[in-house]
Amino acid sequence: MEKGENKKSDPCLVLKDLSIDFGGLRAVDGVNLTIEKGERRVLMGPNGAGKTTLFNLISGIYPPSRGKILFFDKDISRFPIHRRAALGIARTYQVTNLFRCLTVTENILMACQALEWTKFVMFKPLSSYRRHRDHCDTVLKEFDLWEKRSELVKNLSHGDQRRIEVAMVLAEKPKLLLLDEPAAGLSSSETQDLTLLLKKLDPSITIVLIEHDLDVAFEFAEKITVLYQGKFLTEGTKEEIRNNSTVHEIYLGSE
Ligand SMILES: Nc1ncnc2c1ncn2[C@@H]1O[C@H](COP(=O)(O)OP(=O)(O)OP(=O)(O)O)[C@@H](O)[C@H]1O
Ligand SMILES: [Mg+2]
Repeated sequence: MEKGENKKSDPCLVLKDLSIDFGGLRAVDGVNLTIEKGERRVLMGPNGAGKTTLFNLISGIYPPSRGKILFFDKDISRFPIHRRAALGIARTYQVTNLFRCLTVTENILMACQALEWTKFVMFKPLSSYRRHRDHCDTVLKEFDLWEKRSELVKNLSHGDQRRIEVAMVLAEKPKLLLLDEPAAGLSSSETQDLTLLLKKLDPSITIVLIEHDLDVAFEFAEKITVLYQGKFLTEGTKEEIRNNSTVHEIYLGSE
């Protein structure tokens, strides 16, 4: 056998005993998680469960109080945000984070350029600008935003704005995409459109989606991880999660 042949590739993301304290509050408490390359995973849990904080730890907004984050087997636990972004970790935010007074194209171009900034490319030849324009045009078409490319973001619907956010993070060509409730506040038809779009994304990109709606979650992923009070509660398929009495009690009780 050739060296490396049939060797199982490293998981995209491994969290080992990951924790963070905010004063007396342990917002993420000893979480262990493995996500394979190309996997689609949904993260659920009631308000305050620590989902966004987990994304903040993975993307580097806070250093962990304890534990490790491995990205393709590299320990990135202490890397600053820009270094993690340059390695291919991208995210969206729970609250919309767009430049509202710029056009759709300008927003996407900013995202394309942000990646070069993270890599400290000081001198940008004209060819690099053209490359960004070409990539931006491709993203606009892929996301059905071509017709709206010259409109100001603030004049677009909430559904369009959420789509632009996903388009922006994809413009960074990520390996790992963390989506924090991208469907929050959308109508059911906008949510369906967004779910379809997420399902069509490049299968080599690993995606973790925070999503409260079980139907949306399982339209998108095979497996759901549930957090509760900062801790890993359980993991399973749609039916396993739906039939888990603890999950039902703490989270799905009102359904
Ligand atoms: N920077 C911070 N300083 C202090 N406490 C924080 C900070 N960030 C988060 N928390 C607390 O950590 C806990 C987890 O918050 P987090 O935002 O991660 O929850 P969540 O699961 O994303 O909830 P939601 O579904 O409401 O978005 C909450 O009690 C929150 O108040
Ligand atoms: Mg949150």
